[in-house]
Amino acid sequence: MIPDEDVERVRDAADIVAIIGEHVRLKRVGAVFRGPCPFHQGTNNNFSVLPHGGYTCFVCGEKGNVFTFVQKRLGLTFVEAVKYVGEKCGVEVRDVSRQREGPDPREPFWEINATAASWFREMLWTDERGAMAREYLASRGISRETADAFELGYAPRELGLMRAYLNNLGWDDDRLLHAGLLAKRADEEEPRPRFRDRLTIAILDAASHHVAFGGRLLGPGEPKYLNSSESDVFHKGKTLYNLNRARPAMRREERAILVEGYFDVVRMVDAGLEPVVAPMGTALTEGQAELLRRHAKTVFIAYDSDGPGQKATFRAADVLLAQGVAVRVVTMPDGDDPDTFVRANGREAMEKLIAGALDVFDRKVQLLERGGWFNDLQRKRRALDSLLPTIRAASDPLTREMYLVRAAEAAKVDRGVLARELDAGASRRSRTAAPPPGATVRRSRDVDEDAPTPPPGAIASGPYRSVVEASSSERDLVRVMLLHRALADMVIEGVGRLSENESDRPDWFADDDGDDHARTPTGLRDPAYRAIYDALLDAEASAQGGELLTFLGDRLEPWVVRLAEEMLGTAESLMNPQATMDGALRRLRERSMRDGLAELDRITPIAMGEQKDRLIAEKQRLNNELRHMGATGWKGYRRP
Ligand code: GTP
Ligand code: MN
Repeated sequence: MIPDEDVERVRDAADIVAIIGEHVRLKRVGAVFRGPCPFHQGTNNNFSVLPHGGYTCFVCGEKGNVFTFVQKRLGLTFVEAVKYVGEKCGVEVRDVSRQREGPDPREPFWEINATAASWFREMLWTDERGAMAREYLASRGISRETADAFELGYAPRELGLMRAYLNNLGWDDDRLLHAGLLAKRADEEEPRPRFRDRLTIAILDAASHHVAFGGRLLGPGEPKYLNSSESDVFHKGKTLYNLNRARPAMRREERAILVEGYFDVVRMVDAGLEPVVAPMGTALTEGQAELLRRHAKTVFIAYDSDGPGQKATFRAADVLLAQGVAVRVVTMPDGDDPDTFVRANGREAMEKLIAGALDVFDRKVQLLERGGWFNDLQRKRRALDSLLPTIRAASDPLTREMYLVRAAEAAKVDRGVLARELDAGASRRSRTAAPPPGATVRRSRDVDEDAPTPPPGAIASGPYRSVVEASSSERDLVRVMLLHRALADMVIEGVGRLSENESDRPDWFADDDGDDHARTPTGLRDPAYRAIYDALLDAEASAQGGELLTFLGDRLEPWVVRLAEEMLGTAESLMNPQATMDGALRRLRERSMRDGLAELDRITPIAMGEQKDRLIAEKQRLNNELRHMGATGWKGYRRP
């Protein structure tokens, strides 16, 4: 047996159109959805489904609600049907008849967290230790009422206070460790509270259980936010902050507003905007996107206006598009996030921004147009490369077609050419190389406090293995520069000639986990050799050996300096530096020409008329030149 209130909660949360839509092809007709009746195997659209209501067949007379549909179609009992639907819409269903099997094992953890939440709250409002936190909230313009609505609290600095309180209530340290409220490092005797001297924010799951906390520092410092560790009750990638409260509004308003931070949520809800959720510092996961899809057709992404915010926006958008959700981008004025914007301008102004939100694809095209990315062929190529993954991400065929047409229009390229690339590109993505150590910059908001950090020096242990194919030439050049200072200028001149036709790409396109180095046709590609090379540009021609190392030591990361040191120690093997240099430069020149050919292959399809003829002629020329150089093994060359 399932308590009535649970049945009602499931009924409220259920998306009857989505659930029936899994069995019947439904089409929207005005306010209802119509399709062929699955009960009498009808072929005309006589079967009608009312969002938030029931279904009726005008021919065979079958009618009912979401539960009866599932019962009849899947042959389930009522209890099973409620559980099935509850599962689909993320509502916890208590089955009282299974009481004999004991309560849900997660129950104690929910309870511990709930108890801790109210203890933190006491600390915040009634303890003198909470004074700074109270001031902090006041300075952010958050009222007591709002703070209480979100169960904000304060975790004091003291080590034993919360532990003693919760121990007294009967929860031993094991439980508290398990719940993530205490943590114990290997070298410590006593467990310590995870949150110390932080403002706490209670995190509830979709069924309003207390599953975790977020904690914010009251002043500057790192990490600014800390979340409870993953546990049996808390899976960050499947949790959206505030979903439990936002859900009814999401269904009612048929939209969700996705923001980055806790305070964005607090501020917006406080201002009366209800359907707001946040992913809590992780890049939006598939699980979170699925939660959104269950409750809203359209997601408005309202992230920070800064660079990382923009990147995160488009990344989240692709994840949402893959779930078939419509995505719109709310563009915040420079320097604002929803919290600061709503605080300064109020709800109406925010609603205006939301009303002006562009579909994510139009927003991308707009940014590209403004940046002049469709002006010449090479940049157009990059622009299309940045649009194709989003088109590909869209799981809804109509949306995909629409995006395809828009991209073709914006770039003035044949739709068919793009359509072919759309299919071809899917396989290219899987062949990208892993990023080099230290070459990627992680977004600080993606910090995972639980991930182990490598011990210092770990990266440089063992010989350096380049991440770029054929970079032994790069190594040779850097060695010549290090060991034969008189030749350095000739190396620089030669490399300079290689990197003439460099072209970058839209800044939100270069993903931090991406394969940038593999496609950027700059002179030296390997991040370590390039770093040494760049530093040497500023070195005195007279600087040698130890002096040179000291110079590099001030400018480069330690593991790169060690690499330079190792290269300086291999003098004997460099018998004929001039020949080494010439050979390396020749190989790099070949490489650059082949890259040129590859680039020509990539842009020729999107060129037209005379321009196309010129590209084909240029390709001829490069091919001839390469053959002339008698390039070694050039037939076997394959880009990674
Ligand atoms: P305020 O500075 O308090 O207004 O926070 P914010 O929400 O504007 O911060 P920001 O845009 O920097 O971060 C957005 C969200 O990312 C936060 O609400 C957190 O959920 C998360 N976040 C930010 N910094 C960290 C961090 O250092 N560690 C973790 N785990 N999450 C973070
Ligand atoms: Mn903020």
